[in-house]
Amino acid sequence: MIEQEVAVADMDEAAAADELARLAALLGRANAAYYQQVAPEISDAGYDRLKQRNAAIEARFPALKRADSPSEQVGAPVSDGFAKVKHAVAMLSLGNAFSDEDVVDFEERVARYLGREAPLEFTAEPKIDGLSLSLRYEDGALVQAATRGDGETGENVTANARMIADVPQVLQGAPDVLEVRGEVYMRHADFAALNAAQEAKGAKAFANPRNAAAGSLRQLDARITKARPLAFFAYAWGEVSAPLADTQMRAIERLAELGFSTNPLTRLCCGAQALIAQYRQIEEQRATLGYDIDGVVYKVNDLGLQRRLGFRSTTPRWAIAHKFPAETAHTWLEKIEIQVGRTGALSPVARLTPVTVGGVVVSNATLHNEDYIKGRDSKGNPIREGRDIREGDWVEVYRAGDVIPKVRDVDISKRGPDSRPYVFPAVCPECGSPAVREAGDSVARCTGGMICPAQAVEKLKHFVSRGAFDIEGLGKKQIEAFFHDAQLPIREPADIFTLEDRDARQMGKLKNREGWGEKSAAKLFAAIRGRREIPLNRLIFALGIRHVGDSTANLLATHYGSWQAFVAAMDRAATHEGEAWEDLLSIDGVGEVMARALVDTFHTPETRQAIDRLVAHLDIQDVAAADTSGSPVVGKTVVFTGTLEQMTRAEAKARAEALGAKVSGSVSKKTSIVVAGPGAGSKAKKAQELGVEIMSEADWLALIGDA
Ligand code: IVH
Repeated sequence: MIEQEVAVADMDEAAAADELARLAALLGRANAAYYQQVAPEISDAGYDRLKQRNAAIEARFPALKRADSPSEQVGAPVSDGFAKVKHAVAMLSLGNAFSDEDVVDFEERVARYLGREAPLEFTAEPKIDGLSLSLRYEDGALVQAATRGDGETGENVTANARMIADVPQVLQGAPDVLEVRGEVYMRHADFAALNAAQEAKGAKAFANPRNAAAGSLRQLDARITKARPLAFFAYAWGEVSAPLADTQMRAIERLAELGFSTNPLTRLCCGAQALIAQYRQIEEQRATLGYDIDGVVYKVNDLGLQRRLGFRSTTPRWAIAHKFPAETAHTWLEKIEIQVGRTGALSPVARLTPVTVGGVVVSNATLHNEDYIKGRDSKGNPIREGRDIREGDWVEVYRAGDVIPKVRDVDISKRGPDSRPYVFPAVCPECGSPAVREAGDSVARCTGGMICPAQAVEKLKHFVSRGAFDIEGLGKKQIEAFFHDAQLPIREPADIFTLEDRDARQMGKLKNREGWGEKSAAKLFAAIRGRREIPLNRLIFALGIRHVGDSTANLLATHYGSWQAFVAAMDRAATHEGEAWEDLLSIDGVGEVMARALVDTFHTPETRQAIDRLVAHLDIQDVAAADTSGSPVVGKTVVFTGTLEQMTRAEAKARAEALGAKVSGSVSKKTSIVVAGPGAGSKAKKAQELGVEIMSEADWLALIGDA
């Protein structure tokens, strides 16, 4: 075979096409032999050589690339990261409950939304501590596997997922389209064996089974994934062409019938107390399960009710994760330092003698705020029986999930005679401006605003972070360096977008700096250029406004649709009253405090000017409105009044908004429809006077197709 090979450079098109066909067949056979554990026909080196030859021919004759090209096949070691996959249905996360009381509240919230009485029926199942995976089947065949990513877009890990024994390649009797979602994890025994093997090879051991599972799934070479003992539990679904069942429990049973592993501890429970009892049961078994779980997930059993409940931004209203208490350890608190955050908050941080907590080495932990150090809660009541925390103390630290470690308690019997209470600074340690605690605020804040370098740097770091502009090559480290750079500084977001021009004016000095080269500088500029076009929600989040996290940014972007509409509304709401202000407060999830922070940001002149300077460089993408095509009420303003009988007010509002309508609390000339239930009074009357269309709840449901 080798003797007859023609050099790629000497091939004509016909020869190339023939050779690509031959290589596809050869490599296909080799793949099958390799992955199905049949005796390999060719050596690894031989395999790699054939693949390279195939790639070289494809590079010379791109038009001849075959539909079944081996470079796209299972086991193809992708050279440059994973391709992105947009999820047909977003992969969401879950809200958390930390106490029995939170569980009771959850049930009450659900019942209230649905207008029903507790107890309601739920499923309870372990929360697997792994990473979520979405498996797409078309006509019963696995066609794509994707990680969660940011929930909207994940990574294509199809080749790797095919290596997991629990992932069926084909399904019998499944809907034409079925996306199965679940958790990839690693059992304790497999984890221990893997780490032993890693150490024997001189390779780095994994910190915990979850890291090992993540590292194993996200391998560019699927052959490595194959050698790793990954497992998968199915617990949810995304797009389906036909419903799996009427209830969560039956749907999970269907998934089991289709050949998926489902968790054997899944139970049906009626009411919060039954959920809590099941939680205790699972907690007792936790140590003997043989894999990590970090809580219990509760889901409303009736899928019709799940649909009615829907979602709030990034979490479903119909499910919650009841987390196990955190793991703890004891160590010395060496020093208390103050960090200044992007909103000026002075956060005390404990520098600790390193200690392992739940498999991770911890050397820093948060101390929250001044009161927490003093042993008081936000209302002035004692916590830790009033014990304060001091430098030099022996403390208990804990970690819950992925969150930052915290200092929980202190052993004052170990205090030395020189121990002194910690004195919280009255000025910002970074810029020297006074630190002020507003009435009712638990946090002292630097009043330096834009002049405080710490705030500015933190704002910039937030600006380039993952959910915000996410500029490749511009991470925290680079932001620090550019911020302090005299020649090519980045002091505010707009500076990022002038960086390339400024560098060009300096004859392209960046590429000669330490840590930069021709390629990395060009890559950075390209990444920045690529972000001039930015979705509205990301921009709002990136601004780093107090209280406005990514889910609020999503809500705002969806509500206003465009940057122009958003800014105009902020301008009109300046006085904290009037229509624009009420409209802002009408957004489910926006409260008064957040609304003030938002509006005031746009009315602080220096901040506003910095925002305007930034926006001048951007092409802001409007929010693609939810799919309201065919919605009969899109763009209409609706007022609900009187008693609704089929649904609660909250549900009616959420449903109408999902269909592109605006829900208002008062009737005016702009109102399109008033939905009046029994007992409707002045609003219905006003609608009549203004000639606004009035309809019953039943008519409304018929109109929107929910009857
Ligand atoms: S349900 C719409 N069930 O927890 C809700 N999630 O904190 C979809 N997880 O991203 C998730 N075990 O990766 C669900 N039994 C379980 C789970 C589970 C683990 C993970 C999942 C999700 C995260 C949310």
